[in-house]
Amino acid sequence: MEIISDPQEMQSLARQWRGQELKVVLVPTMGFFHPGHLSLMEYGRTIGDRLVVSLFVNPAQFGPQEDLGRYPRDLDRDVRLAREVGVDCLYTPEAEAMYPPGYQTFVEVESLSGGLCGASRPGHFRGVATVVLKLLHQVSPGVAVFGEKDYQQLMVVKQMVADMDLPIKIAGRPINREPDGLAMSSRNTYLNPEGRAAALCLYRALLAARDLVAAGVKSREPILAAVRQIIDATPGARIDYVALVDPATLKEVGAIRGEARLLLAVWVNKTRLIDNTLLSETRLCCVQ
Ligand code: PAF
Repeated sequence: MEIISDPQEMQSLARQWRGQELKVVLVPTMGFFHPGHLSLMEYGRTIGDRLVVSLFVNPAQFGPQEDLGRYPRDLDRDVRLAREVGVDCLYTPEAEAMYPPGYQTFVEVESLSGGLCGASRPGHFRGVATVVLKLLHQVSPGVAVFGEKDYQQLMVVKQMVADMDLPIKIAGRPINREPDGLAMSSRNTYLNPEGRAAALCLYRALLAARDLVAAGVKSREPILAAVRQIIDATPGARIDYVALVDPATLKEVGAIRGEARLLLAVWVNKTRLIDNTLLSETRLCCVQ
């Protein structure tokens, strides 16, 4: 496995691969790999000839009061895990190389970035869209793979790729969960044992919503009320937002017609967790 930190070196390797007509797949990450990341990589491995995993804790997507400084990092472990999965290139650019002095270009995906996590974390998606565009430009993949846990991020990236006419497929992959249902996230490492137990309220709330839909409930109020009740009854948990949205536009819907996405952001003590599920009027869907 190659480990490259210089963007120009990355671009030249990508150019070489393109010249050999190899299909390159990119999995962008911020490192501290968990099985969710590894499953994205394993999927990436199966759909292309060369797999690049980028590892960059992107300062541009963290607000001034957020956890950039304490975001978990373990490069040696990540290198070992990436090797085990069969990654061809681990791309680890430095912040100074991505945003050198004088850097001033940012990407805004306007409407999709505005609400939900964008409302709670102003500037977050501007940072995400900017770094993802740079990574796509540096690696030139045919496909880039993202997890559906960050559902709004996935939609923002898809829109950006379409708007910028990039010839790149964005593949969304199902959420990976711990055996008890907690969505895998690097931020789960912030939780103490009580917080870890409280964090299960997100999954329980999604299951309750799914059960209501399976029982024929379609309108927004009873679904959101059930979700809120479960989270509000959990000591240490505080709702940031609960939203039932159109899966494509992320606009709030009054009822499930066809499909809707239920999105949650919940503070568990000082850790903000997100989770979501598809709710389908017709399809019996499981909470992934
Ligand atoms: O989802 C993440 O880990 C990050 O937001 C991403 C897509 C790697 C951009 O920094």
